[in-house]
Amino acid sequence: MALTDAASERGQFSSRFGFIAAATGSAVGLGNIWGFPTQTASHGGGAFVLAYLILTFLLAYPALMAELIIGRHTRHNMVGALPELTKKPALKIIGRVTGFYGVAIASLILSFYTIVAGWLMAQVPAALAGINSQVPTTSWLSESSLLRDSLFCGVFSLLTASIVARGVKEGIERWSTRLMPALVLLMLGLVATVLTLPGAMEGLRLYLVPNFSVITDPGLLTGAMGQAFFSLSLGVGTMLIYGSYVSKADNLPLTGAYVALIDTGIAFLAGLLIIPALFVAQYQGIEIYNSDNTLIAGPDLILQTLPSLFNSLGIVGGFIGLVFFLLLTIAALTSSISMLEVPVTFVLETFKTSRSRATWLVGVIIFGLSLLILNNFDLLFAGVISFTTKYSQPLLGVMLCLFAGWVLHRNKLLKEISTGFTGAKDSLFWKIWPGYIRFVCPLLIILMFVQNVRS
Ligand code: TRP
Repeated sequence: MALTDAASERGQFSSRFGFIAAATGSAVGLGNIWGFPTQTASHGGGAFVLAYLILTFLLAYPALMAELIIGRHTRHNMVGALPELTKKPALKIIGRVTGFYGVAIASLILSFYTIVAGWLMAQVPAALAGINSQVPTTSWLSESSLLRDSLFCGVFSLLTASIVARGVKEGIERWSTRLMPALVLLMLGLVATVLTLPGAMEGLRLYLVPNFSVITDPGLLTGAMGQAFFSLSLGVGTMLIYGSYVSKADNLPLTGAYVALIDTGIAFLAGLLIIPALFVAQYQGIEIYNSDNTLIAGPDLILQTLPSLFNSLGIVGGFIGLVFFLLLTIAALTSSISMLEVPVTFVLETFKTSRSRATWLVGVIIFGLSLLILNNFDLLFAGVISFTTKYSQPLLGVMLCLFAGWVLHRNKLLKEISTGFTGAKDSLFWKIWPGYIRFVCPLLIILMFVQNVRS
């Protein structure tokens, strides 16, 4: 019976477009629209953009392929997948431990991600109230408080869980294919609007013309690598689990390349929006430099500088703000569902429970973690972010490269790549990637990691 096909029991994306929408939905998130432009602003503009582009294709794309290949080959969740690649008991244990670590990190990333998404989502009704000149409501919604933050984090988590509970096709794929085109349209509209405003061209110049004097700054390369890994959702098994829902008829290296290209393209577009917007704000008399002469970045940029800009532009600004925060919320949602999918499939497939039960159980635990962070914000927030994204993601990335390169047998690897890709054996991908993922990728990641820890 067809039911013995693991894929049909587990759910599968219905088309290549469905997978690309879901995987780019995962990849395109706050990392692109918030992280990338703000990092670019604080690392001297164009030089960071260049480093990011190079690292994405040198490191992140090959690592993405490792996850997609392991996922589709094993058709398993993060914990089940790695032990499946080997018969050696010791390696099986290492695989399991790595898998657990990945699931834990995915959950922790989600716990702070929903907090940030909640801040942004609160700005949507705030902008609406602003357009209707309801001053007290606007200020309650737009200013951080424990109550507001917990409330919006909760609503956002609820949205995330209700999509994941519906499953791969009906939930993740359906919502990604609806939301991603909307996101691209909103973004193009915003870029076109902002670039016509006075001051925008100065920002464009900073963004596009590299200032090579900063290229020797050690923070530049590690920042760009961390950004590329976060942006492509690597290391924690998100792409592995999405890979496990890809049809055997798809050409994986090509599909993965689309995902990396679209993700990078949208990060680039977001830079075209935010950096010029900063200089439009300066033109309006808003301070855009910190006291040490660096550009304002991080939460201040998104939650203060840009809202002041929107305010200064009157009613038009109100609408720009509304669309902008809607855009961020959508981007965050298609990413958060991919993070939640990691622990959910682990619980689902380990304890053989129903998807909706697994989703609500895991969802409640992660929301509990978010509340813990919110209540101990100064103690936990920054620490959780650097533990997960700065240290754990690269380490997990190395492990996944090593498993794909050394543990998965070369013949099986070729067979997996050849399904859906005729002529794989003679392709450039097959000539380069297997050796690359064994030696070059892990070494480069480790080098950068050491650099990162030392700085
Ligand atoms: N890539 C997403 C972004 O840019 C966030 C994301 C989704 C993520 N899944 C992940 C980050 C897994 C790390 C790990 O916002």
